[in-house]
Amino acid sequence: MTRRFLGFIKALVLLACLIPLLHLLARANGLGDLGANPVQEILHTLGKTSLNLILITLIITPLRKETGLVWLVGLRRTLGLLCFCYVVFHALTYIALDQGFAWNSLFVDVTQRPYITLGFISLLLMVPLALTSTNSAQRRLGRRWAKLHRLIYLAAILGVLHFLLQAKIDISDPIFYSVVLLLLLGYRINTWLKSRQAIKNRGDS
Ligand code: HEM
Repeated sequence: MTRRFLGFIKALVLLACLIPLLHLLARANGLGDLGANPVQEILHTLGKTSLNLILITLIITPLRKETGLVWLVGLRRTLGLLCFCYVVFHALTYIALDQGFAWNSLFVDVTQRPYITLGFISLLLMVPLALTSTNSAQRRLGRRWAKLHRLIYLAAILGVLHFLLQAKIDISDPIFYSVVLLLLLGYRINTWLKSRQAIKNRGDS
């Protein structure tokens, strides 16, 4: 896989990931079809895209291992950063459009409404990941970089719980996302157990 080809794939991924945002802007601007509750619609689209992207980011490693397509790893950072941007826009929509920068009521929400608390912690966990996503940070942190970036799993778990807790009547979607996340975590745990066993076997022989 040449650098050029990977660059091309990254550009395609970037464009594909921008579609939900551009579609939202088009609906908000020219077409005016954001429904009876536009702010809710924006919140939901951005929230759903964030969750899609965090799960897609987590699928990359199993996909790479199962298919042997090493270049897939090169997409992880782009996907992760796009996810972070969507989460920030999602949170800003809530802060600015939904709550009108009412800091006191925002503070009450973050401290007293469990689904907002979980969403907030998930967002906070993503901050160090986004800040250390550069090649230089990866070099500087060495082995600690991989450990730090395991926080993505916790951020995803909290994101899915946030989705589950805010659901009102139909919880089929949050359940679907929970199952996908459980499968991804299961794959990770299985790989970890296998590598531990392999190390143990090598030690025994
Ligand atoms: C400070 C952080 C966050 C705040 C303030 C926030 C706030 C909200 C609010 C107010 C809703 C709508 C609830 C309703 O309709 O009653 C929502 C929905 C949602 N949020 Fe968040 N959120 C945050 C972080 C996150 C994160 C980190 C993720 C994912 C990684 C996420 C994913 C979602 C999803 C998937 C929905 C539901 C969308 C749907 O029903 O289609 N949120 N959030």
